Amino acid sequence: MAADGQRMKAVFSLPRSVRWVSGELYILDQTQIPSHIVEERQQSVEQVWDSIKRLKVRGAPAIGITGAYGLLLGLKDMTGLSADRFIGELERRADFLNTARPTAVNLKWALARMVKRARECKGKDSTIIYNHLVEEALQIHDEDKKLCRRIGEHGAKLIDNGMGILTHCNAGALAVSELGTALAPIYIAHGRGVRVRVYADETRPLLQGARLTAWELQQVGVNVTLICDNMAAHIISQGLVNLIIVGADRVAANGDVANKIGTMGLAIISRHFSIPFYVACPYSTIDFSTPKGSKIIIEEREEAEVTHCGSCTVAPEGVLVRNPAFDITPNELITGLITERGIIRPPYDSNLRKAFEEKAMKE
Ligand code: MRU
Repeated sequence: MAADGQRMKAVFSLPRSVRWVSGELYILDQTQIPSHIVEERQQSVEQVWDSIKRLKVRGAPAIGITGAYGLLLGLKDMTGLSADRFIGELERRADFLNTARPTAVNLKWALARMVKRARECKGKDSTIIYNHLVEEALQIHDEDKKLCRRIGEHGAKLIDNGMGILTHCNAGALAVSELGTALAPIYIAHGRGVRVRVYADETRPLLQGARLTAWELQQVGVNVTLICDNMAAHIISQGLVNLIIVGADRVAANGDVANKIGTMGLAIISRHFSIPFYVACPYSTIDFSTPKGSKIIIEEREEAEVTHCGSCTVAPEGVLVRNPAFDITPNELITGLITERGIIRPPYDSNLRKAFEEKAMKE
């Protein structure tokens, strides 16, 4: 019991990707982990845009939270403006931040929530509107912690002692406010003394699995084994994996899932070997206004991410390159969606709407 308490304490002292302290915004620079653990203070909307674009802060919920705080930067010096002009400045900044990354819907969702809150304050003084915006950003952040905890509780029911669990990219503490989505069930189970072995796909090209997932699991003593992406089928074929859990950047109304490139391949492999394939996500990742996965915009990133590994060149100069950052896993390959409202099973179009009825109505 004492050991479980210690483990649980460790789990809740995982690194924080985003912090708002006395009106200042700090992010943990994830491009430097695990070599350097450094926080960077964000001082302008432009800097926040750049940090999101360059993946200094990344993971769908974390970029939503950062976007909300990012809006506050600069606006606090504008409280002398009329309410209309103040809201206009806010909307301009929201539109700008929204261009940083197109696939994860949480960024758009959080920015829209901030704009809505400001519009509801129409007629009030700009200082009051600003204070409401601070409150909204703090609420978005705090709510995410609760959502992750609930996802963890529901997902932990899938985990038994001695299981091998495979995950892709990083959907852990670094990608959210606390705990993670895909990793939350693992942390909760680990905190309760359930022994698991996690296989972390390295996740080329930017190695979020190797650099971030392996690192954060190690921090709290979860047994983690790093594998290259192309080893997953072999490891699964050896009977070492009982469960796959990944995160999501956007879930369409029919349950199709956009997540880090390579997720779909993993889902196809899991079907071949009859391994349950779960996607963990909060409601802020579900986009009822997008009917199916093919309508989701897939971010294409710079060629250099593929032709280089860190500062090392790994491809001949001039070679043609593609670098889609995400792919779409068809809903029929997904065993269940682990959400704060429980595990949603197929058929997703009707079951997602039932579980999130009031959210679906608003879209
Ligand atoms: O490009 P990234 O590192 O932001 O991609 C992150 C992912 O694909 C995660 O799985 C997803 O955002 C869920 S994070 C809880």
